Amino acid sequence: MTDTIAEVRGRRVWDSRGRPTVEVEVFTAGGMRARAIAPAGASRGSAEASDLRDGGSRLGGLDVLTAISRVHTVIAPALVGHDVCAQSTIDSVLDQLDPTPTREVLGGNATVATSLAVLHTASAVAKQPLWRYLNPEVRTIPRPEIQIIGGGAHAARRVDLQDFMVIPLSATSIADALVHVAEVYRTVGELFAARGPVLGVADEGGHWPAVSRNEEALELLTTGIERAGFRAGTDVGISLDIAASEFEKDGTYRLSAEDRDFARDEWLAVLHNWMRDYPIVAIEDPASEHDPIGMRAATAAFGARALIVGDDYIVTNPDRITEAAADSACNTALIKVNQAGTVTRSWQAHERAHAVGWATIVSARSGETEDVSVAHLAVGWGADIVKVGSITRGERTAKWNELIRIDEELGGVPLAEFPHTCAAPAPRGG
Ligand code: PGA
Ligand code: ZN
Repeated sequence: MTDTIAEVRGRRVWDSRGRPTVEVEVFTAGGMRARAIAPAGASRGSAEASDLRDGGSRLGGLDVLTAISRVHTVIAPALVGHDVCAQSTIDSVLDQLDPTPTREVLGGNATVATSLAVLHTASAVAKQPLWRYLNPEVRTIPRPEIQIIGGGAHAARRVDLQDFMVIPLSATSIADALVHVAEVYRTVGELFAARGPVLGVADEGGHWPAVSRNEEALELLTTGIERAGFRAGTDVGISLDIAASEFEKDGTYRLSAEDRDFARDEWLAVLHNWMRDYPIVAIEDPASEHDPIGMRAATAAFGARALIVGDDYIVTNPDRITEAAADSACNTALIKVNQAGTVTRSWQAHERAHAVGWATIVSARSGETEDVSVAHLAVGWGADIVKVGSITRGERTAKWNELIRIDEELGGVPLAEFPHTCAAPAPRGG
């Protein structure tokens, strides 16, 4: 089934931080239409596609009217008349219009919203939900990785680590997994409430980190898992997004929560202690994007028992995945469509990661909307894990709730196995 693109329309909509972002709607000659919205990161890798923002003083310089005008004046004329189902051709037109890896010409916000809107329109033309359009043979739902406590750039750097998350390990369905996580979220909330005033939530909906040290948050999370009735590390594991690029400078890791500087080896010793003391099953960006030696050392030290996830280090770039695999610098790729700028390039990164034997995590951004593309891509691409923030706030629950609906359409399928690149973590205190 085919249909041709008749119109590509951009518009300014709003994200979960109250910032403007780009929505693109694609219309076909046959009367179909669909849309998608660009998400936005706050702790971004330096090599990822960048959003085109207007600058100046209005809306803090973050307006996207230039990016929207690129959609109308550059992208639309080049795409009108193309078969909407020819995703890779359309994405290569976008690549030709803006060959820079960081999408400086068109803006990654313009390209990703266009590319995703084309994909949604093609699935509408095929009269299929997007996940099924991507893969009618789907038999699992990715295992969720869900934030319980926020931090880093998402919580005014109240603590250094960016995401204190959990991965349900013994849950076998998305429905059960979300129940387990909701119990942990609620219990950790009670622990915070018992310590003092509740200060609300961070950017991705996790509890505001009302703690003064990173370890305190780790301790609270572990206690919360146990108080909620789960075996920490067996039923529910801890997963951290360290986002270390955010606090590394000139080879020094600076934990401001502790007012201390660490050389690489000292920083790795800190991680070693956390890996020993807490039931951690995944650790993202343990070293800075500028510190390949640190990434390799972390993978060598912890890669047999935890997922070592490359986010800023990989930036959803297939060539970087190949290099990092040859170097054993990670064993898992975080895949964010707006880091690459198009659906095709992100899919290639996802495929490359599986080809080199890595696990994959399809991820949303800290600035999100009601757009649920990420849930469909994670299922349709066969990701091992899906990460969209916490289990609160509509822009997050939109994705989890979509996964529940997809599971129902599939007749109830198992969660993907937790990737066996790693064995079970040491029991607590062991
Ligand atoms: P970001 O953070 O969307 O703010 O860049 C998410 C992450 O680092 O995984
Ligand atoms: Zn990250």
